[in-house]
Amino acid sequence: MDQYRTPLFDAIRGFIDEGNAPLHIPSHKLGQAIHPKWKAYAGDEIFKMDLCEVQGLDDLHQPKGAIQESQQLAADAWGARESYFLVNGTSSGIIASICTVCGEGDKIIVPRNAHKSVVFGLIVSGAVPLYVNAEIDRERGLVGGFLPSALARVLDENPGAKAVFGVSPTYHGVCSDMKGLIDATHAHGGLFIADEAHGNHVYFHEDLPSGALALGADFACQSIHKMSGSLTQSSMLHIGEGCKELNGARLRACLQMAQNTSPSYLLQASLDLARSYIATEGHDLLDNLIGMVRRARERLGAIHGVDVLGPDLIGGHGIFDYEPIRLVVSARKLGIEGYELYEILRRDYRIEMEFGDYYYGVCVLGLGTQESDLDRLVQAMDDLSGKWRGRRAPLAWDEELPPMPPMLMTPREAFFAERESVPWRNAKGRISAELIVPYPPGIPTICPGEPFTDEVWGFLDSQYRNGRHLHGPKNGQLDEVNVVAE
Ligand SMILES: Cc1ncc(COP(=O)(O)O)c(C=O)c1O
Repeated sequence: MDQYRTPLFDAIRGFIDEGNAPLHIPSHKLGQAIHPKWKAYAGDEIFKMDLCEVQGLDDLHQPKGAIQESQQLAADAWGARESYFLVNGTSSGIIASICTVCGEGDKIIVPRNAHKSVVFGLIVSGAVPLYVNAEIDRERGLVGGFLPSALARVLDENPGAKAVFGVSPTYHGVCSDMKGLIDATHAHGGLFIADEAHGNHVYFHEDLPSGALALGADFACQSIHKMSGSLTQSSMLHIGEGCKELNGARLRACLQMAQNTSPSYLLQASLDLARSYIATEGHDLLDNLIGMVRRARERLGAIHGVDVLGPDLIGGHGIFDYEPIRLVVSARKLGIEGYELYEILRRDYRIEMEFGDYYYGVCVLGLGTQESDLDRLVQAMDDLSGKWRGRRAPLAWDEELPPMPPMLMTPREAFFAERESVPWRNAKGRISAELIVPYPPGIPTICPGEPFTDEVWGFLDSQYRNGRHLHGPKNGQLDEVNVVAE
């Protein structure tokens, strides 16, 4: 197909050029009532594009015109059978995919380190998760890959499991053997849902890891906004060419449920344009980016006390491939935690990374990354290395993870059960109504429906006291937790 085409953007431009009197939503009327401060800063045109389902602009929930055509172009670009635009992020695609494939009581295999939107999908669908642990690289404090052999064991023990969920690459750039996982799933008659929130650009350059759709995934949920240049919140859900047993009507109903009824045209137009851009210019842009990141990785790796994750991880801990444009740095040998690194870089060097955990600072790079920004990072790390050398002992993460607690209620039962907030000291033995994820290693220690066993309670308590960041409980504090009422 002609990937230079941008049917939705063109339809929006055409509508604006017609000069229709705007007696329709939204109320700012093509920007007339936008705050002058904002217009002075942003200009006029962008606000004219903030439209709704006016005539000629199609309807995301029943596309028959420009949106349908734009989605077909997306399917062609990513090698999918069908593609759906998402205006509520990949989270909405994950929820819709799980609800399409699984109903109440159906089993779905989920790596324990999956994104929290998976838990929301479990809550909405009532599906029963069978959690599988990914491998862990203890020395690096890093979650590794999800092994096909581990998956095959769970599939053998659970005939009739409806689906398998897999994420690759992870936030830290780790890729699992997706082909092995997808083939094992299909051999057992299930459908494979791939989380490619961080891996949607990989389809456009041969030096990047293979995309899940090309490897046979049935569903691929992609944050185009994270990696392929569209506006924040805009994502896509693709259906794989070989997907069997897709209930299209149910998928469309689930997408309606998971998304709003006034889908933003700015977001949808940005998907139309981002697709055209990456499909036509992406290879050259990625080529340039891959080179820039390789140079930065080499320079960073040569700095005393600084480590960078990279392709040398491949082969260990279930790591099948590494996404080379993810730049994950660590100054743990200088005794600097990733959380501190994140703050120091912002405060002292005006560098804003995506995320910091105990060992790592995660830089998310993309089509728009400039080499000068990477130079600033290299210079900052070099400066930091000089200033911090010999001041602190290297960090070591040597905690034993507690055994996964049993699931006493499904996530849905635990979510909808009456709940109460209890002081942390009284939580032992109670069933959690929430997810708690310490970093490292970024794997939930407890999920909704599981009890605070002695081991889980003790582990979380020591993590908290040692200053590790906990995602899930209120404000990241362990003063109180939400449990199912007795
Ligand atoms: C692995 C993973 N999956 C899914 C999501 C959800 O993506 P979105 O923000 O597009 O809803 C995220 C967001 O950070 C993520 O990291």
